[in-house]
Amino acid sequence: MTADHDLVHALRLQAEVCREFGSAFNGAMLAHMAADLEAGGPVAELLAPWRGVSRQKILHDAAPLRLVNAFTHLAMGEETPELARAYPRDGAPGDPATAWRLARALVPEHRAALTAFMAHEPQTNEVRRSGVLLGGFLTVAQATGLPLRTFELGASAGLNLLWDRFRYRLGEASWGDPAAAVVIPVDWSGPLPPLDIQPRVIARAACDRRPTDLADLAQRRRLLACVWPDQFDRLARSRAAIDLALAEGVVIESADALDWVRTRVRLQDGAATVLYHSIFWQYPPQPTRDGLELAIAELAAQATVRSPFAWLRMEPPADNLAMVRLDLTIWPGGESRRLAEVHPHGAWVRWL
Ligand SMILES: C[S@@+](CC[C@H](N)C(=O)[O-])C[C@H]1O[C@@H](n2cnc3c(N)ncnc32)[C@H](O)[C@@H]1O
Repeated sequence: MTADHDLVHALRLQAEVCREFGSAFNGAMLAHMAADLEAGGPVAELLAPWRGVSRQKILHDAAPLRLVNAFTHLAMGEETPELARAYPRDGAPGDPATAWRLARALVPEHRAALTAFMAHEPQTNEVRRSGVLLGGFLTVAQATGLPLRTFELGASAGLNLLWDRFRYRLGEASWGDPAAAVVIPVDWSGPLPPLDIQPRVIARAACDRRPTDLADLAQRRRLLACVWPDQFDRLARSRAAIDLALAEGVVIESADALDWVRTRVRLQDGAATVLYHSIFWQYPPQPTRDGLELAIAELAAQATVRSPFAWLRMEPPADNLAMVRLDLTIWPGGESRRLAEVHPHGAWVRWL
């Protein structure tokens, strides 16, 4: 099988994933893109950096998502009004056949912008993942009885930093400020986490090697282009979380996760220090991941009952990126617990 077949396969796989996870529009667009690639159309040129690379590399780089998001990004601008009209908007599902016909014809004129967009991995910042992380934070607060200091790796624009300011609906149950502008509904199954706990977050910080500056309109457009365009509820939640992050002056430090953990994360007496991340671990290279595990082990070795350390992660295993789990380890003790199996965007949680 040639590398082009691998790319076609990857586009079709991503089409299925999009359809399965609720984006019929992106599913259809990716199917058109796969057919175009097979026919030697303009998609072949856009995917040229991934010709001849392994399936693993295509998957790791999320090349199909880069491609489909690049066209969403194009459709969001004022420069392509006809394309914008064929995209989903105002609750209408969009017309993928027309959208693809128009988008394909726009490639020569907008090649530079499309290629520039695709040069970086998707920086989706999904605020609904807070609905998964919440149970972990509550579990740490309950287990330690201490206020929390939270440190996030790969935070993108920081939409999950203010998780304790949102309202959550976990099936019939709820948690958080009833007046919150950001409301996170989660389709919940299994037992509930300790929803009677109200943790006090006394410090929070986050890093990303390429933070999204929400005050910059171009960066905000780029961020919203990673939200699948027919998922109107996701878009509305993202916008509400962006408004809150801007109002609260959320700052994401520009740093590599390993350097940042080594220099910024310290334990503190009288507080539980929580290092957390979601859909981040697959991106740094292996030496960085090894270094992070070492840095985490060093922090763990310093943990005491008065200054505990927790590692909370919402991540998939390397061989199945669609199978996301929430895991928690708290030191002293250091027993790893699988708390939940979850939807990659946080739409559902099966609490264990
Ligand atoms: C898919 S996004 C997830 C963002 C966010 N955690 C969420 O769940 O919505 C992955 C993020 O990890 C960041 N990233 C990748 N490698 C990194 C590294 N070595 N250090 C810091 N951030 C990194 C990327 O820039 C990107 O913003």
